[in-house]
Amino acid sequence: MIINFEDYEKENAFFKEQIENNIKEVIQLKSEYEHEKYIESFEKEFAGYNSSKYVIAVNSGTTALELALKASGIKPNDEVILPSYTYISTALAVSNQGCIPVFIDIKEDTLTMDPDRIEEKITKKTKAIIPVHIHGNPCEMDTIIKIARNNKLAIVEDCSHAHGAEYNNTKTGNFGIGCFSCHSSKILSGIGNSGLITTNDNKTYELIKNMLTVTNDPALTLSQRTPCTMDAMQAAVLRAKLPYLDKIIKRKRTLANNYIKTIPNDIKYQKEENKSKHAYRDFVILTENRDNLRQHLKTTGIETKVRYTTPLHLTQYYKNSPKNKKPLPITEKTFNDLLWLPISYVMTDKKPSFICDAIRNYKSA
Ligand SMILES: Cc1ncc(COP(=O)(O)O)c(C=O)c1O
Repeated sequence: MIINFEDYEKENAFFKEQIENNIKEVIQLKSEYEHEKYIESFEKEFAGYNSSKYVIAVNSGTTALELALKASGIKPNDEVILPSYTYISTALAVSNQGCIPVFIDIKEDTLTMDPDRIEEKITKKTKAIIPVHIHGNPCEMDTIIKIARNNKLAIVEDCSHAHGAEYNNTKTGNFGIGCFSCHSSKILSGIGNSGLITTNDNKTYELIKNMLTVTNDPALTLSQRTPCTMDAMQAAVLRAKLPYLDKIIKRKRTLANNYIKTIPNDIKYQKEENKSKHAYRDFVILTENRDNLRQHLKTTGIETKVRYTTPLHLTQYYKNSPKNKKPLPITEKTFNDLLWLPISYVMTDKKPSFICDAIRNYKSA
């Protein structure tokens, strides 16, 4: 049996008719104004889904993070605290603006940012914290919010993996400025690149809206001058999928539970954070012989992924920063051991146990 890691065609087939109808509607829109109104309708729909007051649709998750950081008032040379265990875009959003990413370690079981490591990194230059809800698992927000309040720091949530995930019964993106990627590989996915920003603060919303206004008016000094809004075609795809987002997450949680029920005892997997509802964009396991296991699964017809290869504090780009000289042992070990197993919502319920059997066969061979 061949099990592909992902199958966009099969996933999109589920929404095909609605996507085609939406695209037909977009093609018939008559003006720039009508395009803007169409995108605004999607923003309102996502705001309703996420119980957030304001949503701004943009062209990528990286753009969302950059705009959110700017709206938080960070200036060149300011410091931003984030986990080293994340996709590089989280850090690039900081350093692209001349700011300094200060990396911290994660918790061994949940793989989320370790709040106990934040305060030791705070200096006069620290302006923001980026909790990354990695793989769809919301961070320990109660503690992070307390630290941010006590030290007057902004919170910019990286929700790229965490559409529909919850902490304390509240959807991610409501604990600070929320930044979502809607890239093809994400839980709420367009066909290509796009992203979303959520906020409950009117001032933040207005600031970001002004940044997105590309105009010749010299009074609009906040303007990015680079178009970074979402296009109507991506909104057409996302609008077709949004009504099914909770169903998608339910399917992914069922698949994750089936993995958890059948996984061999000596294989670790990412644990759900306390008070959190994991959305399982990814199901990741940790094992010392990761590359050998991966090869074994490949020969059995099971495709897996290793999406992240180097802890960010050890990459060429960041390793010389004086702020990032200390080892981050849990992050470093995690990068060595980590393997992404398939968890597409079009997979049948039985596939996780089949994959776990293949892992068990490798172990006993
Ligand atoms: C954790 C995380 N943050 C940010 C991003 C950036 O999103 P985008 O690719 O839409 O710019 C990604 C994309 O994979 C991501 O995984």
